[in-house]
Amino acid sequence: DMSSTRTYNHELVPHKGFTLISGIHDPDDVDQIYNLEIRDSDVFVITYPKSGTIWMQQILLLLEADGDETATSKFNNNGDLIPWIEITGSREAFIKAPSPRMRVTHLPYHFMPSALSQKKGKVIYIARNPKDVLVSYFYFHKMASMLETPKDFNEFFERFLQGHVFGCSWFEHIKTWYSHKDEINALFITYEEMIQDLRSVVDRISLFLGKQLNDEQLANVVKHSTFTNMCKIPQASYEQVPEELLNHRQGRFMRKGTIGDWKNHFTVAQNERFDELFQKEMKDFPLSFIWDI
Ligand code: A3P
Repeated sequence: DMSSTRTYNHELVPHKGFTLISGIHDPDDVDQIYNLEIRDSDVFVITYPKSGTIWMQQILLLLEADGDETATSKFNNNGDLIPWIEITGSREAFIKAPSPRMRVTHLPYHFMPSALSQKKGKVIYIARNPKDVLVSYFYFHKMASMLETPKDFNEFFERFLQGHVFGCSWFEHIKTWYSHKDEINALFITYEEMIQDLRSVVDRISLFLGKQLNDEQLANVVKHSTFTNMCKIPQASYEQVPEELLNHRQGRFMRKGTIGDWKNHFTVAQNERFDELFQKEMKDFPLSFIWDI
């Protein structure tokens, strides 16, 4: 019985088009994010869950340290250095933090600091093909102590299509951010680009952030942010996140790190339904994804 291993029993709380998790997020606190003062050196990494958030944490920390992989080793978890802005207490720490302030978030656009729309600060949006997101999210729901374990894959598939998962629907998330892309100072990248050519993505991020790293330092950033190497770094692979948040006996945060794992999970009928929904939802958004390699 998996439920007996749970120490947390959090509730999903719908709040203005996003579900928060009671005990982790506070609705009033989240509403205050909109009013934050933003510095030009601030960096926000925006992701729908399971799209490469912790990967980007590792890349940004390495870029900040000029490629020196020992820089983060005195910390327990990369998430302590680049925290989620929506978690209770995070906003107060953000206000006091020295530059550069780097944060990650799963929040939709309308919650984010209004100053971003005056092109203050920097936004890195990572999109991942939603079929692989769905599969990754399914496994994450099994290991995340604060989320309800899905009955089986089929049940989770339906929930994802309806947007009844932690956060909001994948379609909502990408559409709200993408439709505001010209108002904000943003770099849009995909998980698939990172898989296929990590070096060129790292180069683009470095340029976007105005970093001056030499070739060898950039190569080091890439080297220490590959899937294999991140698996060897406990603070980068989230292995040290406490059990009350992640049940490490139920799976690994660094699960597979590939493109196209959905093919091992979707039935033909599920795939057709997904494609139909994708075409309907995304008809006004000319975004193309790499679905397999
Ligand atoms: P999988 O479950 O498909 O393996 P997030 O950090 O947004 O929750 O995303 C987690 C997903 O990113 C997981 O996907 C994880 O394996 C993958 N990931 C993390 N670091 C990666 C890396 N260096 N290379 C490839 N995939 C990575």
